[in-house]
Amino acid sequence: MSESILVAGGAGYIGSHTAKLLFEKGYRPVVLDNLIRGHRWAVKWGPFIEADIADTETLKQALVDYRIAAVMHFAAFAYVGESVEEPSIYYRNNVVGTLSLLEAMIAVGVGNLIFSSSCTTYGEPKEIPIPEDHPQDPINPYGRTKLAAEQMLRDFDAAYGLQHVNLRYFNAAGADPDGELGEVHDQETHLIPVVLDVALGKRPEVAIFGVDWDTADGTCIRDYIHVSDLARAHVLALEHLLSGGLSRNYNLSNGTGYSVRQVIEAARRITGREIPAVDEPRRHGDPAVLVGNSVKIREELGWAPEFGGLDEIIESAWKWHKSFMK
Ligand code: UFG
Repeated sequence: MSESILVAGGAGYIGSHTAKLLFEKGYRPVVLDNLIRGHRWAVKWGPFIEADIADTETLKQALVDYRIAAVMHFAAFAYVGESVEEPSIYYRNNVVGTLSLLEAMIAVGVGNLIFSSSCTTYGEPKEIPIPEDHPQDPINPYGRTKLAAEQMLRDFDAAYGLQHVNLRYFNAAGADPDGELGEVHDQETHLIPVVLDVALGKRPEVAIFGVDWDTADGTCIRDYIHVSDLARAHVLALEHLLSGGLSRNYNLSNGTGYSVRQVIEAARRITGREIPAVDEPRRHGDPAVLVGNSVKIREELGWAPEFGGLDEIIESAWKWHKSFMK
């Protein structure tokens, strides 16, 4: 029988893409999601449990009932700006919720976890591209909740032998190439979906947050990584743990940075739309450049991004955006 994997937050953007890939690889993804930010329509590849990760008893029951071999934990709030305004919900969901999930796992003896961490845990970069052993000193509450969860995992490994892989995503983007899934957030703030909203005429213009950064064109540089490449890394991390591998931290990045202006230019080319843009002041808390070094996961797990270029990432996002957001 295929192994069952609990996908906490599997109705969300990255979790749903990973659940689909798990199914395609012969696993049974059991999605648990409270649907506060996830979408019921995005759960199609296995059983669905509508519950919150804070509900330790339901988690324990699910882990036992479905004979779960490992957990993937995507269930988190992930807006930097919101985390500054409302840190309480971030600490409650991302830290207390994670504690509840870990307690349920320890209680019933499930010892493998893949955790959605973030390059935000590094804070202001001291070197580019950022390696995994870069100091972790986040500059916003969202990053601090992700770092707190990583630290909790390390302590649970030392005390209870919880094997885990922290996957530190750089800027997740793009959509399922089959067109079944994509990025859908209420109050979207991420650059690529905002730009595509403008292309569709749903917003009048895109604001460029800062044109006086110390970069070639004055705008911020980010390392965009396709959601399907993130999903494949999760399956490789799962195979690592299921074959007895030990805890690891890995960056997930392409290793190439693109500026905000380059993203807008690429989107104009791909969509054939005008996409008006206006220069605005810097957004608080943005580092100028975030580019990751992902050599470690390439060497140790054989991961390599299939969507290495910005155009491919935006093309897949546009295909989804046009069909879903119209
Ligand atoms: N940007 C604009 N205009 C916009 C939106 C964004 O100029 O309307 C700029 C930002 O200032 C930034 C870049 O585009 O320079 C990318 O911004 P995003 O909001 O798309 O993403 P972030 O770089 O802020 O992403 C960060 C971390 C992720 C983390 C995410 C949480 O890099 O790891 O915040 O939402 F998951």
